[in-house]
Amino acid sequence: MNSHSTLAKFIHWTFTLLYAYGIFKQVDDLSELEDASLLNFEIFFAIIFLILVLVRYFYMKDTPTLLGANDTLSKGHIFIAKTVHKLVYLSLIMLPTTGLLIAGVFNLGIGGVEIAITIHEFSAFLSYVLIGIHVIASLYSRLKSEGMWNSMVPVWKEKEKIDSKIISKLEAIENKTYKNIEKFFNLN
Ligand code: HEM
Ligand code: HEM
Repeated sequence: MNSHSTLAKFIHWTFTLLYAYGIFKQVDDLSELEDASLLNFEIFFAIIFLILVLVRYFYMKDTPTLLGANDTLSKGHIFIAKTVHKLVYLSLIMLPTTGLLIAGVFNLGIGGVEIAITIHEFSAFLSYVLIGIHVIASLYSRLKSEGMWNSMVPVWKEKEKIDSKIISKLEAIENKTYKNIEKFFNLN
Protein backbone atom coordinates (compact mmCIF):
# COMPACT_ATOMS: atom_id res chain seq x y z
CA MET A 1 0.00 0.00 0.00
CA ASN A 2 1.57 3.32 -1.08
CA SER A 3 1.51 6.12 1.43
CA HIS A 4 2.78 9.70 1.67
CA SER A 5 6.01 10.01 3.68
CA THR A 6 5.88 10.92 7.37
CA LEU A 7 7.41 14.30 6.49
CA ALA A 8 4.75 14.94 3.79
CA LYS A 9 2.00 14.13 6.33
CA PHE A 10 3.66 16.34 8.95
CA ILE A 11 3.87 19.24 6.49
CA HIS A 12 0.25 18.74 5.31
CA TRP A 13 -1.20 18.79 8.84
CA THR A 14 0.99 21.48 10.44
CA PHE A 15 0.34 23.67 7.40
CA THR A 16 -3.42 23.07 7.80
CA LEU A 17 -3.11 24.49 11.34
CA LEU A 18 -1.11 27.48 10.08
CA TYR A 19 -3.71 28.17 7.37
CA ALA A 20 -6.57 27.93 9.91
CA TYR A 21 -4.68 30.31 12.22
CA GLY A 22 -4.14 32.78 9.35
CA ILE A 23 -7.83 32.71 8.48
CA PHE A 24 -9.03 33.11 12.08
CA LYS A 25 -6.61 35.85 13.03
CA GLN A 26 -7.52 37.91 9.92
CA VAL A 27 -7.50 41.70 10.00
CA ASP A 28 -11.12 42.86 10.43
CA ASP A 29 -10.67 46.40 9.33
CA LEU A 30 -8.09 48.52 7.52
CA SER A 31 -7.85 50.96 10.47
CA GLU A 32 -6.34 48.12 12.60
CA LEU A 33 -3.13 48.52 10.56
CA GLU A 34 -2.49 51.89 12.23
CA ASP A 35 -1.24 49.82 15.19
CA ALA A 36 2.45 49.45 14.19
CA SER A 37 3.03 46.25 16.16
CA LEU A 38 0.01 44.56 14.50
CA LEU A 39 1.15 45.71 11.07
CA ASN A 40 4.67 44.34 11.72
CA PHE A 41 3.28 41.05 12.96
CA GLU A 42 1.05 40.72 9.85
CA ILE A 43 4.07 41.35 7.60
CA PHE A 44 6.19 38.83 9.54
CA PHE A 45 3.40 36.23 9.42
CA ALA A 46 2.81 36.74 5.68
CA ILE A 47 6.54 36.31 4.90
CA ILE A 48 6.84 33.10 6.97
CA PHE A 49 3.60 31.76 5.42
CA LEU A 50 4.86 32.49 1.90
CA ILE A 51 8.25 30.84 2.54
CA LEU A 52 6.55 27.72 3.96
CA VAL A 53 4.14 27.45 1.00
CA LEU A 54 7.08 27.60 -1.42
CA VAL A 55 9.19 25.09 0.57
CA ARG A 56 6.18 22.77 0.67
CA TYR A 57 5.51 23.15 -3.03
CA PHE A 58 9.09 22.29 -4.00
CA TYR A 59 9.20 19.37 -1.56
CA MET A 60 5.91 17.90 -2.87
CA LYS A 61 6.13 18.71 -6.56
CA ASP A 62 7.75 15.41 -7.61
CA THR A 63 5.50 13.25 -5.42
CA PRO A 64 2.91 11.43 -7.57
CA THR A 65 -0.65 12.71 -7.09
CA LEU A 66 -3.15 10.27 -5.53
CA LEU A 67 -0.32 7.83 -4.89
CA GLY A 68 -2.34 5.88 -2.30
CA ALA A 69 -4.87 4.60 -4.88
CA ASN A 70 -5.55 0.85 -4.67
CA ASP A 71 -6.43 0.65 -8.38
CA THR A 72 -5.03 2.30 -11.48
CA LEU A 73 -6.65 5.69 -11.94
CA SER A 74 -7.81 7.26 -15.18
CA LYS A 75 -5.84 10.18 -16.63
CA GLY A 76 -8.90 12.44 -16.23
CA HIS A 77 -9.06 11.68 -12.50
CA ILE A 78 -5.37 12.48 -11.91
CA PHE A 79 -5.65 15.61 -14.08
CA ILE A 80 -8.54 16.97 -11.93
CA ALA A 81 -6.70 16.23 -8.66
CA LYS A 82 -3.46 17.82 -9.93
CA THR A 83 -5.35 20.90 -11.15
CA VAL A 84 -7.13 21.39 -7.81
CA HIS A 85 -3.82 20.97 -5.88
CA LYS A 86 -2.09 23.52 -8.15
CA LEU A 87 -4.96 26.00 -7.71
CA VAL A 88 -4.80 25.48 -3.92
CA TYR A 89 -1.10 26.44 -4.08
CA LEU A 90 -1.97 29.46 -6.22
CA SER A 91 -4.52 30.72 -3.67
CA LEU A 92 -2.03 30.06 -0.83
CA ILE A 93 0.59 32.18 -2.64
CA MET A 94 -1.93 34.92 -3.48
CA LEU A 95 -3.07 35.30 0.16
CA PRO A 96 0.26 36.47 1.72
CA THR A 97 1.39 38.26 -1.48
CA THR A 98 -1.74 40.42 -1.63
CA GLY A 99 -1.54 40.91 2.16
CA LEU A 100 2.00 42.27 1.68
CA LEU A 101 0.68 44.42 -1.16
CA ILE A 102 -1.87 45.95 1.24
CA ALA A 103 0.94 46.60 3.76
CA GLY A 104 3.13 48.22 1.07
CA VAL A 105 0.40 50.48 -0.28
CA PHE A 106 -0.72 51.35 3.27
CA ASN A 107 2.85 52.21 4.43
CA LEU A 108 3.60 54.33 1.38
CA GLY A 109 0.26 56.08 1.76
CA ILE A 110 -0.38 55.87 -1.97
CA GLY A 111 -3.86 55.19 -3.36
CA GLY A 112 -5.19 51.80 -4.40
CA VAL A 113 -5.48 50.17 -0.99
CA GLU A 114 -9.15 49.31 -1.69
CA ILE A 115 -8.14 47.46 -4.86
CA ALA A 116 -5.42 45.56 -2.96
CA ILE A 117 -7.99 44.59 -0.28
CA THR A 118 -10.44 43.39 -2.96
CA ILE A 119 -7.80 41.10 -4.52
CA HIS A 120 -6.81 39.92 -1.02
CA GLU A 121 -10.45 39.09 -0.19
CA PHE A 122 -10.81 37.31 -3.51
CA SER A 123 -7.71 35.20 -2.68
CA ALA A 124 -9.29 34.21 0.66
CA PHE A 125 -12.55 33.31 -1.12
CA LEU A 126 -10.65 31.24 -3.71
CA SER A 127 -8.83 29.34 -0.96
CA TYR A 128 -12.15 28.53 0.83
CA VAL A 129 -13.74 27.21 -2.38
CA LEU A 130 -10.72 25.14 -3.45
CA ILE A 131 -9.96 23.71 -0.01
CA GLY A 132 -13.70 23.01 0.39
CA ILE A 133 -13.66 21.02 -2.88
CA HIS A 134 -10.44 19.28 -1.75
CA VAL A 135 -11.93 18.17 1.59
CA ILE A 136 -15.24 17.03 0.00
CA ALA A 137 -13.30 15.06 -2.65
CA SER A 138 -11.21 13.43 0.12
CA LEU A 139 -14.37 12.43 2.02
CA TYR A 140 -15.96 11.09 -1.17
CA SER A 141 -12.82 9.09 -1.92
CA ARG A 142 -12.91 7.71 1.63
CA LEU A 143 -16.54 6.64 1.09
CA LYS A 144 -15.33 4.62 -1.90
CA SER A 145 -12.33 3.23 0.08
CA GLU A 146 -9.92 4.09 -2.72
CA GLY A 147 -6.81 4.21 -0.54
CA MET A 148 -6.04 7.92 -0.94
CA TRP A 149 -7.46 8.92 2.45
CA ASN A 150 -5.27 6.41 4.30
CA SER A 151 -2.18 7.68 2.46
CA MET A 152 -2.45 11.18 4.03
CA VAL A 153 -4.93 11.12 6.92
CA PRO A 154 -3.76 9.38 10.11
CA VAL A 155 -7.22 9.05 11.71
CA TRP A 156 -10.62 7.44 10.91
CA LYS A 157 -8.98 4.94 8.59
CA GLU A 158 -10.81 3.53 5.53
CA LYS A 159 -12.07 -0.06 5.72
CA GLU A 160 -12.78 -2.46 2.81
CA LYS A 161 -14.95 -1.25 -0.04
CA ILE A 162 -18.67 -1.50 0.69
CA ASP A 163 -21.05 -2.87 -1.95
CA SER A 164 -23.61 -0.17 -2.63
CA LYS A 165 -25.83 0.61 -5.59
CA ILE A 166 -25.60 4.37 -4.94
CA ILE A 167 -21.79 4.29 -4.90
CA SER A 168 -21.72 2.24 -8.13
CA LYS A 169 -24.02 4.79 -9.77
CA LEU A 170 -21.86 7.69 -8.58
CA GLU A 171 -18.77 5.89 -9.90
CA ALA A 172 -20.41 5.43 -13.30
CA ILE A 173 -21.16 9.18 -13.51
CA GLU A 174 -17.64 9.95 -12.30
CA ASN A 175 -16.00 7.70 -14.91
CA LYS A 176 -18.09 9.23 -17.69
CA THR A 177 -17.00 12.70 -16.55
CA TYR A 178 -13.32 11.65 -16.58
CA LYS A 179 -13.73 10.25 -20.12
CA ASN A 180 -15.20 13.61 -21.25
CA ILE A 181 -12.35 15.50 -19.56
CA GLU A 182 -9.79 13.24 -21.27
CA LYS A 183 -11.43 13.90 -24.62
CA PHE A 184 -11.74 17.64 -24.04
CA PHE A 185 -8.13 18.12 -22.93
CA ASN A 186 -6.77 15.48 -25.29
CA LEU A 187 -5.13 13.53 -22.47
CA ASN A 188 -4.64 10.22 -24.27
C1 HEM B 1 -9.70 17.94 6.89
C2 HEM B 1 -9.05 18.51 5.92
C3 HEM B 1 -8.23 17.82 4.87
C4 HEM B 1 -8.26 16.53 4.40
C5 HEM B 1 -9.17 15.39 4.81
C6 HEM B 1 -7.22 16.43 3.38
C7 HEM B 1 -6.91 15.27 2.68
C8 HEM B 1 -5.86 15.14 1.80
C9 HEM B 1 -5.45 13.91 1.15
C10 HEM B 1 -6.12 12.56 1.33
C11 HEM B 1 -4.40 14.20 0.35
C12 HEM B 1 -3.60 13.21 -0.53
C13 HEM B 1 -3.93 13.41 -1.98
C14 HEM B 1 -2.90 12.74 -2.89
O1 HEM B 1 -2.39 11.68 -2.56
O2 HEM B 1 -2.59 13.32 -3.96
C15 HEM B 1 -4.12 15.61 0.46
C16 HEM B 1 -3.15 16.30 -0.24
C17 HEM B 1 -3.06 17.67 -0.29
N1 HEM B 1 -3.72 18.57 0.54
FE1 HEM B 1 -5.15 18.10 1.89
N2 HEM B 1 -6.62 17.65 3.24
C18 HEM B 1 -7.19 18.53 4.13
C19 HEM B 1 -6.86 19.85 4.32
C20 HEM B 1 -6.03 20.57 3.50
C21 HEM B 1 -5.79 22.00 3.60
C22 HEM B 1 -6.40 22.93 4.68
C23 HEM B 1 -4.92 22.32 2.60
C24 HEM B 1 -4.32 23.67 2.26
C25 HEM B 1 -4.01 24.55 3.18
C26 HEM B 1 -4.62 21.11 1.87
C27 HEM B 1 -3.80 21.03 0.75
C28 HEM B 1 -3.38 19.86 0.15
C29 HEM B 1 -2.45 19.78 -0.97
C30 HEM B 1 -1.83 20.98 -1.72
C31 HEM B 1 -2.25 18.42 -1.24
C32 HEM B 1 -1.36 17.79 -2.33
C33 HEM B 1 -0.12 17.26 -1.73
C34 HEM B 1 0.77 18.38 -1.26
O3 HEM B 1 1.27 19.14 -2.11
O4 HEM B 1 0.96 18.47 -0.03
N3 HEM B 1 -5.30 20.06 2.44
N4 HEM B 1 -5.03 16.16 1.35
C1 HEM C 1 -0.83 34.71 5.07
C2 HEM C 1 -1.17 35.92 5.44
C3 HEM C 1 -2.60 36.40 5.49
C4 HEM C 1 -3.79 35.69 5.56
C5 HEM C 1 -3.98 34.17 5.60
C6 HEM C 1 -4.86 36.67 5.58
C7 HEM C 1 -6.22 36.38 5.64
C8 HEM C 1 -7.23 37.29 5.52
C9 HEM C 1 -8.63 36.98 5.41
C10 HEM C 1 -9.22 35.57 5.43
C11 HEM C 1 -9.32 38.15 5.29
C12 HEM C 1 -10.84 38.31 5.16
C13 HEM C 1 -11.21 38.29 3.69
C14 HEM C 1 -12.70 38.26 3.47
O1 HEM C 1 -13.41 39.16 3.96
O2 HEM C 1 -13.16 37.33 2.79
C15 HEM C 1 -8.35 39.22 5.31
C16 HEM C 1 -8.66 40.55 5.21
C17 HEM C 1 -7.74 41.55 5.32
N1 HEM C 1 -6.39 41.40 5.48
FE1 HEM C 1 -5.35 39.69 5.46
N2 HEM C 1 -4.31 37.93 5.51
C18 HEM C 1 -2.94 37.80 5.46
C19 HEM C 1 -2.01 38.80 5.41
C20 HEM C 1 -2.31 40.15 5.49
C21 HEM C 1 -1.35 41.22 5.55
C22 HEM C 1 0.17 41.06 5.49
C23 HEM C 1 -2.06 42.40 5.62
C24 HEM C 1 -1.56 43.81 5.71
C25 HEM C 1 -0.61 44.16 6.48
C26 HEM C 1 -3.46 42.05 5.63
C27 HEM C 1 -4.51 42.96 5.70
C28 HEM C 1 -5.83 42.67 5.55
C29 HEM C 1 -6.87 43.68 5.42
C30 HEM C 1 -6.68 45.19 5.47
C31 HEM C 1 -8.07 42.97 5.27
C32 HEM C 1 -9.46 43.54 4.98
C33 HEM C 1 -10.16 44.07 6.12
C34 HEM C 1 -11.41 44.78 5.62
O3 HEM C 1 -12.29 44.08 5.04
O4 HEM C 1 -11.44 46.00 5.75
N3 HEM C 1 -3.58 40.68 5.55
N4 HEM C 1 -7.10 38.67 5.46
